[in-house]
Order: sequence, then C-alpha cells, then structure tokens
Amino acid sequence: MKRAIDWLDDRTGCRRLLQDALFEHIPGGARWRYIWGSTLSFCFVVQILTGLALWMAYSASAATAWESVYFIQYELTGGWLLRGLHHFTAQAMHVLLVLHLMQVIVDGAYRAPREVNHWFGIVLLLLTLGLGLTGYLLPWDQKGYGATKVATNLLGLVPLIGSSLQKLVIGGSDYGHHTLTRFFALHAGILPGAMIVAIAAHVALFRRHGITAKQPYRKPDAKFWPDQVLMDAVACLAVLAAVLYLTVRHHGAELFAPANPSEPFNAARPEWYFLFLFEFLKLDLLNQWFGHQGEFVGAIVVPTVVLLVVAAMPFLANWRYGHRFNLGFLAMILLGAGALTVRSLRKDSHNAEYQIALIQAQAEAERITTLIKANNGVPVSGAASLLRNDPATAGPKLFAQHCASCHRHDGHDGLGIVSPEAPSAPDLKGFGSRAWLAGLLDATRITNHTYYGGSKFHDGKMVRYVREKLPPLRDRDPKALAALIAAVSAEAALPAQRDTETRETALIEAGRTHVRETFACTDCHAFRKPDDDATAADLTGWGSREWVLGIIADPSHPRFYGKRNDRMPAFVKDGRISSTEAGLIADWLRDDTDPALVANRVARTAP
Ligand code: HEC
Ligand code: HEC
Repeated sequence: MKRAIDWLDDRTGCRRLLQDALFEHIPGGARWRYIWGSTLSFCFVVQILTGLALWMAYSASAATAWESVYFIQYELTGGWLLRGLHHFTAQAMHVLLVLHLMQVIVDGAYRAPREVNHWFGIVLLLLTLGLGLTGYLLPWDQKGYGATKVATNLLGLVPLIGSSLQKLVIGGSDYGHHTLTRFFALHAGILPGAMIVAIAAHVALFRRHGITAKQPYRKPDAKFWPDQVLMDAVACLAVLAAVLYLTVRHHGAELFAPANPSEPFNAARPEWYFLFLFEFLKLDLLNQWFGHQGEFVGAIVVPTVVLLVVAAMPFLANWRYGHRFNLGFLAMILLGAGALTVRSLRKDSHNAEYQIALIQAQAEAERITTLIKANNGVPVSGAASLLRNDPATAGPKLFAQHCASCHRHDGHDGLGIVSPEAPSAPDLKGFGSRAWLAGLLDATRITNHTYYGGSKFHDGKMVRYVREKLPPLRDRDPKALAALIAAVSAEAALPAQRDTETRETALIEAGRTHVRETFACTDCHAFRKPDDDATAADLTGWGSREWVLGIIADPSHPRFYGKRNDRMPAFVKDGRISSTEAGLIADWLRDDTDPALVANRVARTAP
C-alpha cells in the first residue's frame, strides 16, 4: 500500500497537495462562522452531480421538455428524489450565499488585500441567481413558463439595446422553443462552466490571503484538519438533511401542467428569492418618481447601483465610518428585501384572483397526471393535448369565456370568479339532475336567480304553471312529483345518476305516465314522442349530451325555445365556437369527465 502511494506521490506530488489542502493555517482556530464557503462548494458539487443525472433524462425542446420532466418526476426510479435534491439544493444555495455575504461583510473580510476576491464572490452570487432563473424555465410548465416570460420582458426595458437584448436572450422575436434551448445551454453549460472558473479563482485567492479572523484570537491558531473539517462536514450534512427533508416532504419538486402559450397564466410568480424584486417593481413610488421609466429604474438601475455599492465596499471601508456604513447598507438591503418578500406573499394571500388561478393550476397539475395514467402514458401529440381535450379542464374555461356573461355555475363563472352582477340566465351546475329539476318545479325557487329570475321567462308560461297549476297537483300525490322528476331527469342519462337509475327503473317508468297524465306537462312540452302542437321545449332527451349540444348550437331551433328564445346566441351555428368546444362544455356541465374517455378522444383526434 505504502509503496503504491509513494509511487503515485513521486509521479504526481499528491501528498503535498493533500497536505496543503488539509493543513491550511487558521489563525484563532476553527470556528462555525467559517463554514459557509464549504457548504456552498458542497451544494455546488451536489448540483453538478444531480444536474448531470437529470440531463440524462431531460429533453430540451418545447415539445418534449415537460414530458421528460414528468418522466423523471413520476416514472424514473428515484427520479423524484433526484429532481427534489437538485431543486432544493438550489434554494439552499441562495440562503447560504446571503449568510456567506453577511459573514464576509460583518467580519470585514472584504478589506484590502481581498478586494478582488470580494468581487469574485459577487460574480458567484450573480451566477447562482442566473442558474436559478434559467433552471426555472426548463420543466416548461405553466409556472416556469409564465414567470420567465415576465423576467425576459424586463430586459426589453433597457434603453436603446433593450429589444435587441431581449431578442438575443429569448432567441428571436417569439418567446418559445428557442428560449428554452438557449436557457438550457446557459443552465447546463455556460453558467456552470463560468462558475467552476470563478470558484477556482475564489478559492485560490482565499488560500493566498488566508482567513480573516477577528483579533484578539480567543483560541490558539490551528490547522484546517481536523477541527474545521469536522465543523464543515457537520454543516454540509445539516444542509443535506434539510434538503432531503424538503425533498421527501414535497415528493420531489412541484411540476405544474405543461405550459400553454395561448393562455395567460395568472398565478405566475418568480422563485421566492426573486419575489422582492418582483414586488419592488410594483411599488407606486417608482412610477411616481420616474414615470414610465419606473420599471426600468426598478429592474435595472437600482439593482446595478446596489451591486456597485457592494463591490465598492472594500474602498468605502477606508473611510473612517466606512465599515459601519457598509454594515448599515447591507442591513438596509436585507431588511428591505425581506420586507418586500413578506409584502408580496401577504398581498398574494389576500388576492382572490391569484388564489383562484393557483388552485386552478394545482388542479390541472393533478389532473394531468391522472389523464396520463388513464392514457397509459403521454400521447404522441404531447401531454398538453390531453388537457386540451379534457372537459374538466377546458370546459370551465370555455364556459367562463362564452357562457358566464349570462349563466353561472355554482354561483361563479366556472373558474371560481364570482361576479357582483346578478346572472340573467339559469345556474347550470347540475343541469339535468334531479336536484336541478326539483328546483325548477318549486314555486318558491323558479324565479330565483339560479333559475328564471334574471331572464324574460321569469313571468313566462312555465313560471305561471309552476306557481299556479302545479302545487295542487303535487299536494294530491307528493310521490308522483318525485317519480316525475326521476323520469324527466333520466332523459339526461347523467353519469352521476347512472347507478340510481338502473336501480329505479320502476319509479322512472311510473314517472313517465305522470308527465303525461297527472301533471299534464305534455300540454306544452313534447315528451318521448313527436308533438306538433308543443309550444315549449322538447323534453325528450332533456339534458342529454345531444340535447345540450343542440341548445348550444342553436337555441332558437323549434325543439328548444323557437321564436321565444331570450338572448342566448346560436353558438355553433354562428361559428362562435366549434362543435368540439361545445362538446367539452356539454361534458363538463354533465360532469362526464372520466379520464379514460379523454384518452380515447385524444387517440381519435391524433394525426
Ligand atoms: C346572452 C346570454 C346567454 C349566453 C351568453 C348563454 N346563454 Fe344559455 N341561456 C340563456 C337564456 C336566456 C336561456 C333560457 C333560460 C332562461 O331564460 O332562463 C338559456 C338557456 C340555456 C340552457 C337551458 C337551461 C334551462 O333553463 O333549461 C342551457 C343548457 C344553456 N343555456 C347553455 C348555455 C351555454 C353552454 C352557453 C355558453 C356556450 C350559454 N348557454 C350561453 C342565455 C345565455
Ligand atoms: C303551460 C305550458 C307548460 C307546462 C304545462 C309545462 N311547461 Fe315546462 N316550460 C314551458 C315553457 C314555455 C318553458 C320555457 C320557458 C318559458 O318560456 O317560460 C318551459 C321550460 C321548461 C323546462 C326548461 C327547458 C330547458 O330549456 O331546459 C323544463 C325542464 C320544463 N319546462 C319541464 C316541465 C315539466 C316537467 C312540466 C310538467 C311538470 C312542465 N314543464 C310543464 C311551458 C310549460
């Protein structure tokens, strides 16, 4: 053994190298406050290793990036662990960097002759932020896509070269695939490469000048080995433990649904360590003082000035109160950033629109995994095609866009936004169900805003019938009304009522005669057979998919409201929406959102 090492040492000088590394002089002995550099180097190594491993499964293209990250997160063995470690170690690095900066400034370790090394530190800080920013986009999910779009738009604010700079970074005039490939090259090549060079220089210079210890020393001088090595190792393990804890708790890192360039994403927020800047840009102060230049000043000028002051700290310290000024400045920046972060988080927690967008985004993130499982994998047309063909996802959005100006769904617009205005058409939550019909046939409810309250039908024939004729008929035989409701609602064939309806065929059969005889609905409506004298909507198949599609296509068709149609547009007939879109709305209204059906539909529409 010894001979082998001797041989190696002779050829490489490795003993000497190890000696230099371990027996570095530490004036005043080992201390906990020196651990930051080692923990940061440790994190960087973790990032390189996990990053390379992630790279083996990652596919940097707008059409495949999300799918490959999904694969890592949900299918690759241990992939979630890998992703989580990479994600949370990145977060840890930002915290450690701030602590390191604080230690350097508090201890005055930036003073001559360490100015240049202080600058390398600033460069490393910027590189880390750059890695965080570029990494955020790589999963190509709604969150990273939305937030990075905001960030790259800021570049356009730079005077003169702004738009060229923006083009350079996003890779053309459109934010998209080329932005992703560019960010990936930066994230996995250029920035880490620069970081290795900067770390090497930082450590070499640090070794050259040695540790800055406070005088007088509390303990005798020592060597790096063993005490400081032990402390550093404990600190690294603590960081690793924290990162592992977060990774296991979140089962990897969050992955939102695939980015959808055609839709604004209202829950877009930068990573938490950029929140202060995000909030800073929103301060009224900026606009009051600088007018339309406010954002430019906030995003570019102020951060540059702050960095220049930090870079100038070694020179400022020569002035009598310089060091105190530096301390004060650092405290001000950190407190300011902290306060802005808190303000941003608090504002968001009170922001209903943001909360709704976030809940929706989380629901979509969950839904997409369900859909992929039902589909036995991601379809060739991409994961986003599943969401596009999913009534549970696309339905409420289309409803909010086309129907919510008159209708509501459970009191809101389908996505959760409650309008202060009263609705002018029925609430369609549960349309076709027994509960919905029972409400319509209830004299105390039919003129509520959930039914005909807002429409011209509020004093129409149906309301008059329900108020005047129906109550005495119902009182004669209350069971008959329940049977009738079951029978008419059965026309809808709602998936949620399927089991009940197969059990209650007798009740439904009885109800059908009550429609004709006991309650004489057929005086006005056709029911299960053509009726040329009918003056109101055909109740045959009422609420079924086909019926709902029909009314969305053309409510003025004689089968529905005919000439009496109150304002509802002929959506499909007039080309306002496609019949596929109408189908998505109808399925969602009917709660017909089985993931397996979505998979089938995607398979059918795929090229
Ligand atoms: C301009 C207002 C308006 C818009 C927009 C509108 N509707 Fe209607 N809708 C009505 C009115 C009015 C009625 C008739 C019922 C009434 O008067 O209360 C109605 C009736 C319906 C009914 C039958 C409900 C019942 O009372 O039995 C369905 C289903 C329906 N609409 C679906 C939709 C869908 C889906 C959309 C969006 C694609 C939509 N509507 C858009 C006004 C509108
Ligand atoms: C006097 C005629 C008349 C009678 C009887 C009548 N309705 Fe109606 N019904 C209407 C009219 C007309 C409308 C459309 C709204 C309006 O113009 O007031 C309507 C609307 C409806 C709707 C909503 C249709 C849609 O667009 O979704 C349902 C459901 C309905 N009636 C069920 C019944 C049932 C069940 C009975 C028997 C218990 C019944 N109606 C009895 C005239 C009648």
